[in-house]
Formats: sequence, structure tokens, C-alpha cells
Amino acid sequence: MNYIMSLITTFGPIFSSNQAYFEKNVRPVIEAKCASCHAGMAGQDWTQYKSAKRAMSKINFRVFVLKNMPPMSSPALTAQESSILKSWIDSEKSEN
Ligand code: HEC
Repeated sequence: MNYIMSLITTFGPIFSSNQAYFEKNVRPVIEAKCASCHAGMAGQDWTQYKSAKRAMSKINFRVFVLKNMPPMSSPALTAQESSILKSWIDSEKSEN
């Protein structure tokens, strides 16, 4: 536990907790449900934190407002995946 805390302290300034959350929880969701299509599209490799963060509002809009991503032909987000994605977006927003 102390070891983990010291890692967080050490990397804190360059590795935000939002990014840590993204790497651990959000990336696997994107890999499972979005990357098969989007990783190949220009600028849409959202398995990378920076590009995902840049596209965050669009992702929010399509997944949670229009609810048309992933497309109906593809496996939907599970309730858990959906809440992971939503919590990440909410905490990024509250930081700005
Ligand atoms: C089966 C392939 C496929 C999957 C899976 C998929 N998408 Fe898409 N997505 C597309 C295509 C094709 C477009 C472009 C056409 C359109 O806008 O509907 C698109 C468009 C989008 C856009 C708009 C991009 C822009 O620049 O305007 C967003 C945001 C998006 N998808 C997010 C997601 C997210 C987040 C996931 C995973 C939860 C996902 N998509 C899963 C095929 C897919």
C-alpha cells in the first residue's frame, strides 16, 4: 500500500489521476467496444489518452446523448462499461 501511495505521489504531477483512471478502466472499454472501427480512422485512436480526451465531448454526445455509438450492429456497452466511460468524462469536465 505504501509502495502504491509513493508511486502515486511520484508520478502525480505528470500523470493525472484522470489519466490513471483512463489507462486502467476506460482504455479496456474503448479497446473492446470502439477500437475495432475507430482505431483505424484518422485521429480517432481513442485508446490513446490524449486523443480520447480531445474527442471527449463528441464521444459523450454520440454515446450518451444521441446514443448511436456503438452502432446497433455492434455489441452495446454493458452497464458497467457505460458508467466507467461516464465517470471519466464527468471527472475530466469537473477539472476544467
Ligand atoms: C462498427 C463500427 C463502429 C463501432 C464499434 C463504433 N463506432 Fe463510432 N463511428 C463509426 C462510424 C462509421 C462513424 C462515422 C459515421 C457516423 O458519424 O455515424 C462513427 C462516428 C463516431 C463519432 C463521431 C466522430 C466525429 O468526428 O464526428 C463518435 C464520437 C463515435 N463514433 C464514438 C464511438 C465510441 C465512443 C464507440 C465505442 C463506445 C464507437 N464509436 C464504436 C463506427 C463505429
